[in-house]
Amino acid sequence: MLIANCSSAKKGKSDYVEVKKISYKTDIEPIIANSCTPCHIPPQGRKEPLESYDHVKTNIGAILERVQLPQDNRKFMPPVNKKPALTADQLAVLIKWQQQGMTE
Ligand code: HEC
Repeated sequence: MLIANCSSAKKGKSDYVEVKKISYKTDIEPIIANSCTPCHIPPQGRKEPLESYDHVKTNIGAILERVQLPQDNRKFMPPVNKKPALTADQLAVLIKWQQQGMTE
């Protein structure tokens, strides 16, 4: 389902990101589940849990910071030798979700 969201539409990114209302269940959870397991789901040791809407919403600032670091920074997420980095589209979806107010 596509819902136009003209107010915050930005030029330059893919059409998917421009027109779609991003929601946690539909768009964000699959990205986190794909790229941040098994370390954060279930949370292992002292790692930040990212297994629910509330966890991800609360940590969106730290998440966006980590995934946008240079990949040779040892704080880059997901760790380079474990999982492929997020794609530009996945990153754009995360950013858009934050800008849109983080719908569940
Ligand atoms: C292979 C295991 C692994 C994967 C996969 C992984 N992480 Fe992490 N993450 C860690 C570890 C270990 C730490 C704690 C060390 C550190 O802060 O760098 C951490 C720390 C973090 C922190 C800092 C938490 C805090 O308390 O400040 C964030 C945010 C984070 N990860 C986000 C992510 C995101 C988002 C993904 C998926 C895109 C991801 N991680 C994938 C292992 C992982």
